[in-house]
Amino acid sequence: MLNGKRILLIVAGGIAAFKSLELIRRLRERGASVRCVVTEAGARFVTPLSLQALSEDRVYGDMFSLTDESEMGHIQLSRDADLLVVAPATADLLARMASGMADDLAATVLLATDKPVLAAPAMNVRMWTHAATVTNVETLKRRGVAFVGPNDGAMACNEHGPGRMAEPHEIVAAIESLLALAPAKPLAGRRALVTSGPTREAIDPVRYISNHSSGKQGHAIASALARLGAEVTLVCGPVSLPDPPGLATVHIDSADQMLAACLAAGSVDIAVCAAAVADWKVARPATAKIKKQPGAEPPVLTMVPNPDILATLSSLGANARPRRPALVVGFAAETENLVANAIDKRKRKGCDWIVANDVSPATGTFGGERNTVHLISAAGVEDWPTLAKDDVASRLAARIARHFAAPPTAQAAE
Ligand code: CTP
Repeated sequence: MLNGKRILLIVAGGIAAFKSLELIRRLRERGASVRCVVTEAGARFVTPLSLQALSEDRVYGDMFSLTDESEMGHIQLSRDADLLVVAPATADLLARMASGMADDLAATVLLATDKPVLAAPAMNVRMWTHAATVTNVETLKRRGVAFVGPNDGAMACNEHGPGRMAEPHEIVAAIESLLALAPAKPLAGRRALVTSGPTREAIDPVRYISNHSSGKQGHAIASALARLGAEVTLVCGPVSLPDPPGLATVHIDSADQMLAACLAAGSVDIAVCAAAVADWKVARPATAKIKKQPGAEPPVLTMVPNPDILATLSSLGANARPRRPALVVGFAAETENLVANAIDKRKRKGCDWIVANDVSPATGTFGGERNTVHLISAAGVEDWPTLAKDDVASRLAARIARHFAAPPTAQAAE
């Protein structure tokens, strides 16, 4: 899988640095070459000698060593790599990356590179959830840095929560997916917006109305578009999936917030609305928890319609801000008269394509791993075979790329 690929591994100072040794072994087993840069703190957790023995290459550490600079300048380190991997990516190094500092060799290489960068964060849970780190990670994601992990679990500091570095095999998988698709980027230069997951509509500060959407299909589509080179913003409701690497994820709760986040993403070329947006919200959510009054009737909730995000995006003007995406794709989850309902929904919502999805109980697809879909456009209906959700996503992304590659007249016809 990784034959001939050149990885520049940047090891920062965290207890997880010991896992980087295993990472080097696994990468080399797959045919990649690994060259290491270690920060001063990193070298306290794992010796440069171990990194050198496993990578069978020199280890670079001191930016101000004249020999290093004459033999292998920091620009050259990045030039010679296909991908930079920061593992472990500490809170400190992420902060230095986000603010563009160049105060050691690791930070300098990361500032000087034009190669893809994958970061595997590792830190104490409080450091990971600190507003400063959250902002730094968002900034880096917006700039295209891909992330893998961190995972949830017990930590060396006797705490529990997100902060554990992803396991070496997970980092290898993220590297493979980043590199595998590097050559074909037909959607490079295009911006895409994807909605995913359910929304939550508040009843009071502790209760809400929602649905069972897992977000699997929407997340898979966002990743598939990013793999084809699109700059993707994923707006997602509460899901238990990790943020996909290589794109910007915006987390929201309600339909109103989802619409605001979609409009805040600015003008995009492609919008795919895969979220299961609640059709209604409670007219006036209580500001305090609704208490049971002895002997009183249960409360009656008055509902009002939510904004229709797909219809709103479809109805934006070509000169509006944001402007209408050139291609708006909706989903139609139907239990009966699938194609007829979806054709009708396409017209009603004003979108270009509808991915019609059979969710009748007999198919067992809702919340499952597979989907049977039909792609409905102005040109007609394409029946797709039953596919894993990841494959539906790849096929849809490839179909979108084909659409943009076609001459304008052909684009207008579908
Ligand atoms: N959708 C949306 N905003 C809403 C409701 C739906 O963006 N408030 C989008 C979904 O993301 C999906 C499409 O509209 O792409 C169709 O959703 P669906 O629930 O199937 O359609 P509804 O409009 O809810 O129609 P119905 O419930 O009558 O089938």
